[in-house]
Amino acid sequence: MKISIIGTGYVGAVTGTCLAELGHQVIFVGRDQKKLDLINSGNSPIFEPGLEQLLRKNQERITTTTDLDDAIRKTELTFICVGTPSQDDGSIDLQQIRDVSITIGKSLGSDNYYHTIIVKSTVLPGTTETLILPLLERESEKKAFVDFGLASNPEFLKEGTAVDDFFRTDRVVIGVNDQKTNEILEKLYRPLNVPIFTTTIRTSELIKYASNAFLATKISFANEIGNLCKKMGIDSYEVFQGVGLDSRISPHFFRSGIGFGGSCFPKDVRALIAHARDLGIEPQVLDAVMRTNEDQPAQMLGLLKRHLDISGKTIGILGLSFKPDSDDIRESRAIPIIEALRKEGAIIIAFDPVSMDNFKQLFPDIRYAKTVYDVLHSDAILIVTEWKEFEDLDYRGKIVIDGRRISKAREEAAIYEGVCW
Ligand code: UGA
Repeated sequence: MKISIIGTGYVGAVTGTCLAELGHQVIFVGRDQKKLDLINSGNSPIFEPGLEQLLRKNQERITTTTDLDDAIRKTELTFICVGTPSQDDGSIDLQQIRDVSITIGKSLGSDNYYHTIIVKSTVLPGTTETLILPLLERESEKKAFVDFGLASNPEFLKEGTAVDDFFRTDRVVIGVNDQKTNEILEKLYRPLNVPIFTTTIRTSELIKYASNAFLATKISFANEIGNLCKKMGIDSYEVFQGVGLDSRISPHFFRSGIGFGGSCFPKDVRALIAHARDLGIEPQVLDAVMRTNEDQPAQMLGLLKRHLDISGKTIGILGLSFKPDSDDIRESRAIPIIEALRKEGAIIIAFDPVSMDNFKQLFPDIRYAKTVYDVLHSDAILIVTEWKEFEDLDYRGKIVIDGRRISKAREEAAIYEGVCW
């Protein structure tokens, strides 16, 4: 199939490259020529393990353009993968969705071909049918589900393992309203040989939010129990090992510590909270999930202060990205932790294998270590991201406060505190 991918961010770049690997011709549509040039020269526009290799392998099936109209005309299928960032009140900003819907609509109206539009960007239930569809119909003067196809197909990829997640996903969710679009999408995903769950467009949109909100809830729950464990001298990881053996619960996403960050969980839970309030529902569980998450970094600081008067001391930060194998620092727990440490007069030296340049944009005036070893000379070390290489360091004689459970630090440090264990 010939496919346009609008957006070269993490969702677009991974989806497009993986679809090329499945044998499709892919046109990436973006506004940033630098990113498109990277793709054209076989370089990944985002840091994602395995992506660049796949991009190079499928180079002959991949092209790029800034001209959305042209891409639509040359393809049968378009995936909308543009960002839906948070606004100040937590609600989502749909400007990019609006802009591309108008352009796609105009393009659909100017010719007589059949085209299918698939919304992969995370949007609240109803957005595809009450915002995107009317814009497409208005601009094209054509009828959705008759003259062109429209569907929702949320993504469930995790940064750091996104390529693997694409090919080995637990399920593909398709929200459709007509048989033709359903058949096109089933044909597209059949080679993955994974369960395909087909539902309505609105339900599909909510499955995305409910999935992320549930995973975030699991983490905040693990952190609340973990805080209790800490007070009682119990290891929360052992607790959740036991809990997770119950097949109704599952052992995943119970890693307690300093909480979740990233571009998805905080944004999506906040958007769902704002949407619930708009609908007159008080989202008590989701509110608590966010509050617990926002409080976790303070647990780390509290533990540090038990062992050190931090004013004027050098505190080493291991890890700045929101999770390992990613250079993404959006909503990273390192941000509130470093802000709080600085407020208390600490001198920061930080290290991250890949995200120091990104972090410098936010915190230009903290010290960045040349090598990970420089961090080890600090008065105390805080482990904020569980990069694999932190398992190889020599923690003997050190004060370590661990937010992510690095076994070697736990075994070796002179003074060791796990946030939830
Ligand atoms: C998350 C979801 O896991 C994906 O299914 C979804 O597609 C994606 O959001 C999205 O909506 O785009 P991602 O944010 O990339 O993926 O990464 P996760 O592995 O889920 O980690 C998110 C945060 O939760 C990280 O800060 C991680 O450290 C934290 N986490 C995760 C925990 O604190 N404990 C856990 O047990 C698991």
